[in-house]
Formats: sequence, C-alpha cells, structure tokens
Amino acid sequence: MPEIRIFEDAHAMCVAAANLFLAACQATTDDQRNFRVALGGGSTPRVLNRLLASDAYRDKMDWDRVFFYWGDERTVAPDHEDSNYRMAAETLLNAVPVPPQNIYRMPAERADLDVAASEYQEALAAQFGANALPRFDLILLGMGSDGHTASLFPSTRALSERERWVVGNDVPQLGTRRMTLTYPVLNAAAVVVFTVAGKEKASALKRVLEGPIDTQLVPAQGVAPSHGEVFFLVDEAAAALLSPGNPTSREA
Ligand code: 6PG
Repeated sequence: MPEIRIFEDAHAMCVAAANLFLAACQATTDDQRNFRVALGGGSTPRVLNRLLASDAYRDKMDWDRVFFYWGDERTVAPDHEDSNYRMAAETLLNAVPVPPQNIYRMPAERADLDVAASEYQEALAAQFGANALPRFDLILLGMGSDGHTASLFPSTRALSERERWVVGNDVPQLGTRRMTLTYPVLNAAAVVVFTVAGKEKASALKRVLEGPIDTQLVPAQGVAPSHGEVFFLVDEAAAALLSPGNPTSREA
C-alpha cells in the first residue's frame, strides 16, 4: 500500500520529497554504497531539484557517490526546452558537485530510439549487474492528469513490457515517441516517491488511489514495488477528491 501524505501546497510537498531524497541518499552512502536515483520529468520536479541544490541540502550529500538516471525522456536534443535532462541540469546537476561520469542521460534524441533504449539498458546492466533487475535506491515520479507516469501512457505498448527494462514507447496521445523505464524496473525499486500537485490531477489521483485496478487506463496504478516503499506526496488541490476515509496523513 502506498503511503499518502497531503501538503498545504506544492512547495511543502517538494520539501518533504527533498527530505526523503536526503534520507535515502544518506542511508545509502553512509553504508559506503553508491546512491542510484532516477529523476522525474515534466515541471513538478523543478522546485524539488532546486531545493536539493540549495544550501539547506546540497552540502549534506556525498555527491561522489550519487549516480543519476532518468525515468523517461522526450525524443528531443538534450538542450531542447522539453528535455527532462536539460530541466534537471538547469535546476540541479549544474549546481551540485556530482562528477559528470555519474550522470547517465537517456539518449532519446537518437534516430533509432529502440537501439538507444537497448543501449541505455546495457548501461544500467553495467552499473547494476546484468543478471537481475536494477534496484534503484530511489525513483522519483510524477503523474499526468490522465494517470500516466514516466512515459507509461494509457493504452500504450510499454505498459505490457515485462522483459525489457527500457523501451521506446509510441504515445499517440501526444503524436510522439518517448524513452521510458518499464514496470519491471519501477517495481524493483527500494523507494518510489510520486509528487503530484494541482487540481487538474485530482480526478486521476482519485482513480489511482481509490479506483478499480486498471493499469491500461491509469498507468500510475501499476507502480507497486514488491519489496519497496511507495510514497504519494500530494498537495491539497490534487487531493481534493480523495475520500476522507482514505488512510492519509495531512501534514502541516
Ligand atoms: C515527463 C514525465 C511525466 C511527468 C508527468 C507530470 O517526461 O513528462 O516524466 O511522467 O511526470 O507528465 O508532469 P508535470 O510535473 O509537468 O505535471
């Protein structure tokens, strides 16, 4: 069962997400292990990323041991305004002393997206090992108003992928393709943190958390790590339609 925490506004939500990131990072690096995190895309992570790069968080982490990956990427160049990599670089990566070799960008701009996805999977296998699913210490995810997460959109082929870790996914709703991690990898994670804010997400969030299970229709429902924790950090606006009886905690 996911842990649902409701916050007054998106900023308070992102502070909680930053605290979870810090805790997961310190728990891993204090153990002399590398902290391997998949960053989220879209716009919600901007505030979270800036917090992690701020004086309140930046110097509390051993960046030499932090390794960055992505949950998904758009099929654009890394300097394109829609690039999830560019967003992360501008709001976090360029502001912390993480070694460049620790950053594993998804090369989704490549002409052959399927080959690029296979090569990204090979990079994951080289880092995590090839004989088992990669177990990220933390995966940061958002959710669209249609219930998609990463680039697992409703009724798209990637939802049915059970072998490959990374795929190119046709997204007819957007008239484009995306590169995305698949459910097997998302569900192998130690910790998954969703951040969902805004009234436009309220209907989808209710369906994800309280509706009948239908991952084709509401892909975010499919993120349920068998041996991991899932947190839904949401603001009041996104939580507006949740049933009062839903086990949530309302944070100050
Ligand atoms: C992407 C994301 C996607 C995002 C949701 C929410 O590449 O767009 O990975 O899954 O998290 O669409 O986006 P917002 O944060 O912009 O609402």
